[in-house]
Amino acid sequence: MTHPTQRGVFITLEGIDGAGKTTQFEAVVGALRAAGRTVVATREPGGTPIGERIRALLLSEPMHYATEALLMFAARQEHVLSVIEPALLRGEVVVCDRFTDATLAYQGAGKGLPIDRLEALANWVHPGLAPDLTFLIDVPVELAAQRLRAQARIADRFERESAEFFARVRGHYLALAAAEPLRWVIVDGTRDLESVRDDLVHHMRKILQEPV
Ligand SMILES: Nc1ncnc2c1ncn2[C@@H]1O[C@H](COP(=O)(O)OP(=O)(O)OP(=O)(O)O)[C@@H](O)[C@H]1O
Ligand SMILES: [Mg+2]
Repeated sequence: MTHPTQRGVFITLEGIDGAGKTTQFEAVVGALRAAGRTVVATREPGGTPIGERIRALLLSEPMHYATEALLMFAARQEHVLSVIEPALLRGEVVVCDRFTDATLAYQGAGKGLPIDRLEALANWVHPGLAPDLTFLIDVPVELAAQRLRAQARIADRFERESAEFFARVRGHYLALAAAEPLRWVIVDGTRDLESVRDDLVHHMRKILQEPV
């Protein structure tokens, strides 16, 4: 007898620039694959050919805040329709480096765009879709800035924002996590890489143990 495919699991990683999302991404993906899960590993903005071209624009070109938000959602629309939803329908695990929470935190709290408009766009672009599990890798603004400064590369347009900006973004992330404690897990990102990794894997244990 064939069983209908179970809907997959949608996991997102959030946090301010320099928190360690991309560093821990491989660990999260690796733990899931080691447990036999089929994983789609992706990122925002990006994740599709159009999305990656929009990403390049967003990271380099100065633009009005509303344009930035609309481009984020345009990239997200492609991503949801052609990558995320199909993978979830196939019963796979989708791990995404940033999603709509980042737009609420950065373009909303950080840049002052009305949150209700961003939420309206989210409802248009992905009605009924929200991550099942979101990790907030939380670090103080100064530590994140130190980590970025230590990298031998030129900061992108977002990474050049002020400490006050990142404080608003971090505050909004913490508020989102507090408002939806069943979806969010706050991970203390100030610790060494292995401790942060162990925490993330520990919180995925339920998903890791489910039969494939
Ligand atoms: N727990 C940690 N301890 C020490 N250094 C870390 C830790 N996590 C990440 N780093 C370092 O901090 C820098 C930023 O990490 P990473 O690129 O993963 O952050 P990010 O959250 O993806 O940032 P962005 O939002 O800008 O993409 C990297 O040089 C990384 O090696
Ligand atoms: Mg990153």
